[in-house]
Parts: sequence; structure tokens; C-alpha cells
Amino acid sequence: MTGPAEVPVVAIDGPGGSGKGTIARAVARALGWHMLDSGALYRLVGLAATRQGVALDDGGTLAGVAHGLDVVFDPLGGEEGRTLLAGVDVTAELRNETAGRAASLVAAVPAVRAALVGRQRAFRRLPGLVADGRDMGSVIFPDARLKVFLTASVEERALRRYKQLKQKGIDVNLPALSKDMAERDRRDAERAVAPLRPSPDARILDSTGLGIAAVVVQVLDWADEAYPGLARREGPEA
Ligand code: DC
Repeated sequence: MTGPAEVPVVAIDGPGGSGKGTIARAVARALGWHMLDSGALYRLVGLAATRQGVALDDGGTLAGVAHGLDVVFDPLGGEEGRTLLAGVDVTAELRNETAGRAASLVAAVPAVRAALVGRQRAFRRLPGLVADGRDMGSVIFPDARLKVFLTASVEERALRRYKQLKQKGIDVNLPALSKDMAERDRRDAERAVAPLRPSPDARILDSTGLGIAAVVVQVLDWADEAYPGLARREGPEA
């Protein structure tokens, strides 16, 4: 079961820094649909494991951490919502590079991925879901009628991430970020379970050189095609 089949899903997959999060959030807002940030779940498992002193390659114990994840996504806390792990606000901590690295490690553990499947599918609720991740179209919601694989050159993705972190007052070094991003891409693409790869039926969208608005409009147009009538939206570009 991938959740109730009558609930429409737009799956947006792609590498880190491709702008998936920003695009998925904007599309979900425009459609008035729910949003799943699946990367946050892997980040949360990494964070919870670190706090509990569990090694990031200890598959059996990590699966238990994933199953027992005590998380609340509070959509009303701030512009992007607030995430509570065991009652503690971890919104800012989740976005830092340490959490990203930990997420990439735990995401390579098959038992962790399996433990998170049901939790992700539970987000599929009316009127619809925009799901952002690496395997939304290939594994979690294979029946989604719109699958987008969003990408951009590694240089542009590193630069976007650099600006994003700088804006948050986090000190980063661009060459190191670029190297780290290429390394994470490689790990995500080469892992045995659910490697980062576009599904054969995904639409590839290369956002190098494109602004956010242009990408959002393209995804909304495709959503309209995939779910006629359901994904219609109000506003100037409708
Ligand atoms: O999208 P993100 O940067 O928050 O993802 C963090 C890590 O989690 C990244 O290394 C890939 C992994 N991930 C995954 O394997 N599957 C998903 N559906 C989402 C994220």
C-alpha cells in the first residue's frame, strides 16, 4: 500500500541543493496540498541516533531509532514550520551540514529506509501531497501521476547551499561545500537500496540558470496535466 490511491501525489526527487525543498513547499502552498520533507526524517534519525549514542552504521539499532522516532511537525511554527524531536525544537539544527552528513549515512542503511516507509506514506492525505526526497517517485509513491526529477549542476547547487547557509549566519567554505556535495551525491547514487536515480517515468527538470518562479510554474503546469481539475489553482499564472 502506498496510501490511499485516490489522493493525488506530486513526487519531487533530486540531489541535495537542487532546490527541491523550496520548490516543493511553493508547489504545495499553491495547490493547498500537504507536504512531506522526507529528508527531514533521515536527518531526524541521524540526530536522534547521535543523541542516543548510537553509531551511524549500526543498522539494527538505527532501525529501532527510526521506528521509535518521536517527532512532531508543527506547520504553524514560523515560515517553514517547526520540528520537535522528543519535545525539543530541532528546526535549526536539522538543517546544518552535520545533520546532512549523518542523514546521508543512516539513509544508506536498508533497515532504516524500511522503517520509514509507513511513516512517509501516512502523509498521503486529501486534498493531495507534494513529497520531496530521493525515492518518492521510485519507491514510496510509485503510483504518483507526476514525478519530477529536479537537478542542477554541482557548482550551482553548492553555490545555492552556500548562500542559504550564509544567510542563516552559518560560516561555510564554498570549495569544501562543493566537495562535500559531490561526495554525498556519490554516496546517495551508489547505495544498494533506493539509490538516487530518476524513475524511468519521471520528468527531468534541470534548474541550472532558472529562477524559483519559473521552476514552480513548470511543476504546476505538469501537475495540472497529471491531475486535471484537482491541481487547478487560483492566481495570475493559473
Ligand atoms: O534532502 P536532504 O538534504 O534533507 O536529505 C538528507 C539526506 O537524506 C541525503 O543524504 C539523502 C537522504 N535522503 C534519502 O536517502 N531519501 C529521501 N527520500 C530523502 C533524503
